[in-house]
This record gives sequence, structure tokens and C-alpha cells, in this order.
Amino acid sequence: MSTVAVVGTQWGDEGKGKAIDYLATRADMVVRAQGGNNAGHSVVIGGKKYALHLIPSGVLNPSAVNIIGNGVVFDPEGFFEEIAGLEKDGIDTSNIYISDRAHIVFPYHKLLDALSDAAKGKNRVGTTNKGIGPCYMDKVERTGLRMCDMMDDEIFTAKLSAQIDRKNEIITKVYGADAVDKEEMTARYLEYARRLRPYIRDTGVMVYEAVKAGKKVLFEGAQGTMLDIDLGTYPYVTSSHPVSGGFTTGAGVGPQMIEEVVGIVKAYTTRVGAGPFVTEENNEIGDAIREVGHEYGVTTGRPRRCGWLDLVVVRYAARVSGLTGISLMLLDVLDQFETVNICVGYETPQGEIITDFPASLDLLEKCRPVYKELKGWHVPTTGCRDYDELPDEAKAYIREIEDFTGVPVRIISVGPDREQTMVRGELF
Ligand code: GDP
Ligand code: IMO
Ligand code: MG
Repeated sequence: MSTVAVVGTQWGDEGKGKAIDYLATRADMVVRAQGGNNAGHSVVIGGKKYALHLIPSGVLNPSAVNIIGNGVVFDPEGFFEEIAGLEKDGIDTSNIYISDRAHIVFPYHKLLDALSDAAKGKNRVGTTNKGIGPCYMDKVERTGLRMCDMMDDEIFTAKLSAQIDRKNEIITKVYGADAVDKEEMTARYLEYARRLRPYIRDTGVMVYEAVKAGKKVLFEGAQGTMLDIDLGTYPYVTSSHPVSGGFTTGAGVGPQMIEEVVGIVKAYTTRVGAGPFVTEENNEIGDAIREVGHEYGVTTGRPRRCGWLDLVVVRYAARVSGLTGISLMLLDVLDQFETVNICVGYETPQGEIITDFPASLDLLEKCRPVYKELKGWHVPTTGCRDYDELPDEAKAYIREIEDFTGVPVRIISVGPDREQTMVRGELF
């Protein structure tokens, strides 16, 4: 297949970075289509760890072209920090292009992110404070600034000046906080504009032409299905569309240009930030998963909430993104358990069993997981390099996932390193 989209199926941090890097070794182009530097994708190559936020994970493959598409919200400050870090590690960053239609994140977005989330009190979402929600708000309100505005100093200054004035009204009058410094910010962002111009392109044309020419194009998802603004656990979600449909608007190409959709599934479930989580194990089981899986946020360092694999969630993700394959990650983290649970339904307070993920969080909060208990394998899998080498109980676990979701498990990962990966059949 020439084009593959990689989608998070849970609440993010499923191991997309590792899976994308693995597939990107063969890619001609890697495209980010949504989100911003709220993402934290870790890739480990030969024991060395890289953390990517805004830059596509394809940057670690020297021959891939990396695209930051129109659906991304772009933070110049974060971008240059990331570039500096990668260059320090000797990574070539010359092959990156940014859409002229991508919206720009400014410091007032980050400030408003923190102020508005804190003001929600006990209902706070627990955002990453990267200004993602406020930047998408401006986009939808039709007041945002886009990368193309950076091409002309005069236009950029006029638009930014009007926005800073509006935002300062909100910052000071609604939240009683200190206004942002207009002159300092304008000067700094004019300098960013000068540095960014060489990266700015109509990237939709580049993606379209690459697909038409039969190049291998990888669409890199950030976040996960349950954080989707429409389909996730609203309002405890992000502000973009991390499902496969979001990649076509966010990359600027039609849906027929995506041939395969691979869902990244963590062998258990984690979540950072607030919101219901039916299979959460807020106890020694969750702690054991967190310690062995190093479940701490790449972007914010927060400990992740941990629990058993929720197949109601994964099957929902399979439906809404049209998954054609699954990449099962972090299977090795379950090596430690004598028995493992998988959630195959939710029991409502009325005793009804539901298997379709509900819209209402009021209902979800009252649901209890219906578990199927499976025998654990209780031996290390980190050294396995072929599906046949996996213990029978691990194979049975994989079969349960396939049977429940109706989607074949094509990739299995048993450690953070590129090498610790098994593939069943050619994928890309
Ligand atoms: P992403 O946001 O979906 O890219 O995922 P993160 O990078 O935030 O979190 C996944 C974490 O799991 C990272 O620390 C990876 O290095 C690590 N990881 C990925 N695959 C595996 C695996 O199969 N086994 C183990 N033990 N760690 C893995
Ligand atoms: P990757 O790409 C996990 C969560 C935040 C918060 C909610 C809204 O690494 O999987 P935002 O800053 O986006 O407005 O926060 O979404 N969140 C993520 N959780 N992985 C991510 O990205 C996330 N990006 C945002 O914790 O609950
Ligand atoms: Mg992450």
C-alpha cells in the first residue's frame, strides 16, 4: 500500500510515535494533519530517545519529506525549540514544510488556555496549556492568523495588533490577569516570520502530488479517538479531529487518498487529564502498569492514569475511523501479570450491558466494566521478534482483540526500541 494513516484509538499516548517511526523508515512523506505541540511522541532508536511534539516523527528518517498540514495549530516558539533539540542530536531538519493555511499559536493562546481551564474549577479538562483550544477557537471564530499572513510584515503586524488588543481585553477584564506586551510580542513574532518563510508552502498540493506519483505517504495522527472534539468523551477532549476523517481535511486531500488506516492500540489503557475512564485501576494494578510502562507524559511529565484494555473503546475507534489494521503496542508491560482483564462491555446502573460507546458522560460515569479474565503469559516477551515466538497466552490475548473488533492485528510491539517490533505480512 502507498498511503497509510496512523490513528490513536484510545486517549492518546498509545505508542503512535514508535509505530510511525517504524513505518516511516519506508516512507517518502510523513504528514501531520491536526493538533499541535500538545502531542508528545517518543521514538527510541538504538537506545537513544527522541521526543517529538510538532514535527512529524518522519524527521528521523533522513529521506522523508515532513509536512505540517493546514489542520495543525502551529506554535513558532515550540517549533524552533524542537528544531534546536533535534539539530543538537545531529538530526537533519531541512526537509520540513509548513502549510500556508495552518493557524498560528501565540503566547496569549497559552495564557488563555491556562486561565480558562483553571476557571473551570473541578470541571477543568487538565489541558496541556499549549494554547491548542484557544487557537482552534479563533480559527472557528474566523479571527485567527495563518502562516500565509507571515509572508508580509505589514499585513501580519496589523492583524496581530488587532488580535492582541482583543485578547488583552479578555485577559484583563474577564480573568483579571496581566496584559501581554504588544510591542515585545510583535517584534518577536516578526522575527519568527522571517525565519519561517522558507518553510511555508501550499502543502496540500505537495501531498496530492506525492500520492498521485505513487509515493509512500504516511499520515501521522496525534492524540486519540476518545479525545476527538466530536467523537470523544466531550468535554474532556482536545479541540481537533484525531480520527481518520480529520486527516483528510487537515492534510487537504480527499479520503480516497488514504488506503490503509492503522489503529494504534496500547495493550492496556491510559489517560492524562480529567474525564471518565471505565477501566481505570486506581490501585496497585494501575501503579504496576505505570511503573513498568513508564507512564508519565512526554509533554507535561504528568503521571498517566492506568487501567485494563477497554475493547468497547477500541471497537468504537475501529468503526469511526474505518480501521483496516491494528498495531498493538506495549504488550510487554503485561508480562508481569498472572491474569489479565479485557473489558468487553459496560454494565449500566439498570443492569443493561452496552457495547457501543455512549455519548453521555453522566451515563458513562455510572457504568461498570464487564471483564473477561484471561490467563497471563507471565514470561518476558521483550526479546520476541516473530509472532510465532510469542507465548500462547499472548497470542490468545491478540485473538480476543481481533475477534471483538473485527480488525486484524498487523504489528505487535514488545519494547520501545525500533527493533522490538513484529509485523504480520507486508503493510507499507
Ligand atoms: P504517542 O503519544 O502515542 O506517540 O505515545 P508516547 O510516546 O506518548 O507514549 C508511549 C510510550 O511507550 C513511550 O515512552 C514509548 O517509548 C513507549 N513504547 C512504545 N512502544 C512500546 C512497547 O512496545 N513497549 C514498551 N515497554 N514501551 C513502548
Ligand atoms: P499524543 O499525541 C494524551 C489531553 C490533555 C487533556 C485534553 C485536552 O501524545 O497522544 P489540550 O491541551 O489538547 O487542549 O488538552 O487532551 N491530550 C493528550 N493526552 N496524549 C496526547 O497527545 C494529548 N494531547 C492532548 O491531557 O486531557
Ligand atoms: Mg504522547
